[in-house]
Formats: sequence, structure tokens, C-alpha cells
Amino acid sequence: MKLIKNTFTATLYIGMLLIQTMQATSKQDNKPLNVTIVGTGYVGLVTGACLAEFGNTVLCVDINTQKIIDLKNGVIPIYEPGLDTIVAQNVQSKRLTFTDDLASAIKQADVIFIAVGTPMSENGAADLSYVEAVARTIAKHINSFKVIVTKSTVPIGTGAWIKQIILDNGIKADQFAIVSNPEFLREGSAINDFLFPDRIVIGTSSAAADTIMRSIYEHLLNQDVAYVSTNVVTAESIKYASNAFLATKISFINELANLCDETGADVQVLAHALGLDKRINKHFLNPGPGFGGSCFPKDTQALLYTSQQYGIDIHTVLAALKANEIQKEIPVKKLLPLMENNVKDKIVAILGLAFKANTDDVRYSPAISTINKLIEYGASIRAYDPQAMKSMKTELPNITYCTSIADAVTNADAVIVMTEWDEFKAMDLELIGSLLKTRILVDARNILDPSILHKHGFIFDNIGRSCLCKLPLRNMSV
Ligand code: UGA
Repeated sequence: MKLIKNTFTATLYIGMLLIQTMQATSKQDNKPLNVTIVGTGYVGLVTGACLAEFGNTVLCVDINTQKIIDLKNGVIPIYEPGLDTIVAQNVQSKRLTFTDDLASAIKQADVIFIAVGTPMSENGAADLSYVEAVARTIAKHINSFKVIVTKSTVPIGTGAWIKQIILDNGIKADQFAIVSNPEFLREGSAINDFLFPDRIVIGTSSAAADTIMRSIYEHLLNQDVAYVSTNVVTAESIKYASNAFLATKISFINELANLCDETGADVQVLAHALGLDKRINKHFLNPGPGFGGSCFPKDTQALLYTSQQYGIDIHTVLAALKANEIQKEIPVKKLLPLMENNVKDKIVAILGLAFKANTDDVRYSPAISTINKLIEYGASIRAYDPQAMKSMKTELPNITYCTSIADAVTNADAVIVMTEWDEFKAMDLELIGSLLKTRILVDARNILDPSILHKHGFIFDNIGRSCLCKLPLRNMSV
């Protein structure tokens, strides 16, 4: 694990050095642009730090004064590999600063990125109240031409809506331009995704704004990163289409995995062979306990909501969401037959609470559904996660939080692996087996080798990897 972490850090470091060398040559004649990022959540902070890394002068602003004090003191509010280093370096080089004074941050800016939260509201639509508040504040303090960029994922049509808010506040159309610049950052690898993107998408109807955006991303353009220049509504749509497509891909492989469970085929081999077809590609074909996180569940719902407003049904995305709800039940469905269909008064160890590895985020984590169902069936839970226990404590305060894998499995009747942390991939199965009351395991991420589990005497199940080592739960033909 240490080796992987070191390799990751080293690659990032070399990448950052390369960028600094390039920006030294490319920006030396140009005055850096003043960029203000509103919102220091995961998207805002990563965007701010990386744009500073590209040579821009960046001011990150948040109305949460304590957060700003912490950031000034080098305290990063989220767990994101590499973020602390890139923030520290750019603070030191004075390209990155923090403030809680939004009015002054707007006045100083050439470009304002809106990166505030857009949580899901009751009806599936994104709640835009924070975005609206920022738009009104910009209108109030505008003092020169501003490029106003939406970076948070906002519903299709939001750019036009922001424009109208600013116009309605008496600001003339030639004093600002609206841009949609969606982010494609995965939590856990957000810095790498920002520094080495597949593409930059810029939606605007203003040639001046397009020129300014090209300048902000200049060093990526120098590396021939694809630059998609389009209108605002198309850029907004690209973001939703990307997330909905990836979510659909995951639901597809999850449903295929369930079929493999019945037929005796191996989904890992199936996914590998599928991915070798360049038209399909190998990414996002890992079956698991369903997709979670703050993006796929929210963005697929929001896309469906928007499409319904226009009288369009996107059946594929609706099906992907439905399949995902069913998939979240799979870990418990897999565990029950291994425990004679009874978990009442049993202790189940849950390894992994985060919705995926390398993050402390538990929003819409499949672990939540699994734990709630087990509690409903009368089990008690001993949970462990390398990073996400603090966040899960607010969500599920009444389960037992453990200090290590060994602590969680001690005297437990069974264990479910919910998140694909490297620490779990490398765990000592003989030790785990000796600490468990019974060697019963569900690998909901397919990270453990079935033959090794078999060797250590586990009764186990996984997601679509039928093999003879499994408990013969159903009639399998070889
Ligand atoms: C996702 C997108 O990948 C980013 O491009 C996008 O910018 C971001 O949403 C966003 O809209 O802000 P993220 O949610 O951080 O990023 O994480 P992913 O790596 O995409 O994983 C999402 C979920 O799908 C996780 O629960 C993960 O475990 C699951 N997943 C992913 C699978 O079950 N199988 C896979 O093969 C891949």
C-alpha cells in the first residue's frame, strides 16, 4: 500500500514540476489572470489549487469563516490524496489565497468560478439556492467585465438562468459573460484528473470569455489536451451525459454479474474481454454493491427531472437507477444464505464505509443500505474504514466503530467487504479467519482471490465470480 501511495505521490510530483516549468515559459510575458473561486468544497478547492498550479492568481472564498481560518493554517477539510501538497505549494508561492470576504473577492476577479454545493432536493431536482445567492452577490458587486463560470454540476439551463438573474439586477449584458466549464473529477483522484484531463469543455456565446478561458487553461492546451468549445447549454448537457453514461455502464455490468452468478460464468473475465473492445473500453466495468457518492445518484436523478420537464423519457438512465437500487441489496442477499438465512443477534463486521476507496465521503454509500438492512434483520455491526469513520458517525451514530480490520472482525460471525481500499486487498486472511467466530465472508467488490479464500477455509460469496470454491448455493454446471 505504501508503495502504491509513494508511486502516486511521485507521479503527481513529477507532473507538478513539469507544469511549473511550462508555466514559467508560457506566462512570463502575460499578466496572470485573477481568478476567484466561490466555494471551498471538494470541487472548489481542487479547482482553485490546480488553477494556481497552472500559474493563475487564485483567491478561494467561502462564507464559512472557520473553514477559511483552517485553510489559511494549512488544514484541508476533506481527504483527497495530493490536495494538501498542491495547496501548500501554491500558498507558499503566493498564487493561492483564501478569504471569507465575497464582495471584495468579486471586485478583484477577472473570472469568477461558482463552485458552491447543488444538493439534491426532495423531487430529484438540484437545489440551486446557493448558486442563486452567489449570482445575486456578483450582480451587487460587479465593478468591471467579469467572466462568470459554473464549475459545480448545475442543471441544464442554469447558465441562462444566472444570466437573467444578473440582468434583472440592472447589470448590462456587456459587463459580464456566462461560461459553463464542467468538472470531470473523481473523488480520490481529483488532482490527477484536473492536471491530466481527457478534455476541457467550455460553453459560452462570448468570444472574449472563450479567449480568457483558453488563457486559464493555456498550459493544458499546450499539451494538446482536447478543448471542446461550444455553447452553454451543450456544455451543461455534456456533464450530465458523462455521468449518466458511466452510471449506466456500471449498472449494466452489475446486472451481468448477477446473471453470471446464476449461469456459472465469471464476470471478471467477461468484463476484461468486453473492455478489450475499444468501442467499449475497460473503465467503469467493475461490478460491486451499486454506485454511490454525491454525483451519480444526484446527477442521474437531475437529468431525469430535466428530461421530464421537456416531456422526454430517458429510459436507459431510469433503468440504470432502478438497477442500482436493487444492486444495493446484493451484499445482504449474498450474506443471508451463508448464515442459514438468519443474522438475528449475530455480529457482522463491515470493512469499508466510504462510497469508494481513497475518499472519506459516505454520501449515498452502499455501506449505508447494507448496514441498515442488517440492523433491521437484528444483526449488530462492527465497522472499520481507513478514512470515512468520522463522516459515517454523523450518518449512523449507533454502530460500533473499530480501530482496525482486526478489531472489527474479532468475534464477528461474518464479514462483508464494502469498499475496495488497498488495505483490504492486502489483508492477512489467515489472521482474519482466526479472529472471526466463523469464516464467513462476502466480497462485495471482488478484491479478494476466491482460491485464497478457499485455501483459508472461508465460506464466501462475491459479485458474479462463480467458481467452485464458493459454497454450492445453487446448481452450477461446470
Ligand atoms: C464521478 C465521475 O467519475 C467524475 O467524472 C465526475 O466529475 C464526478 O462524478 C462529479 O460529477 O463530480 P465520483 O463520484 O467521485 O466521480 O467517483 P467515481 O469513481 O466515478 O465512482 C462513482 C461510483 O461508481 C462509486 O460508488 C464507485 O464505487 C462506483 N463504481 C465506479 C463502480 O461500482 N464500478 C466501477 O467500475 C466504477
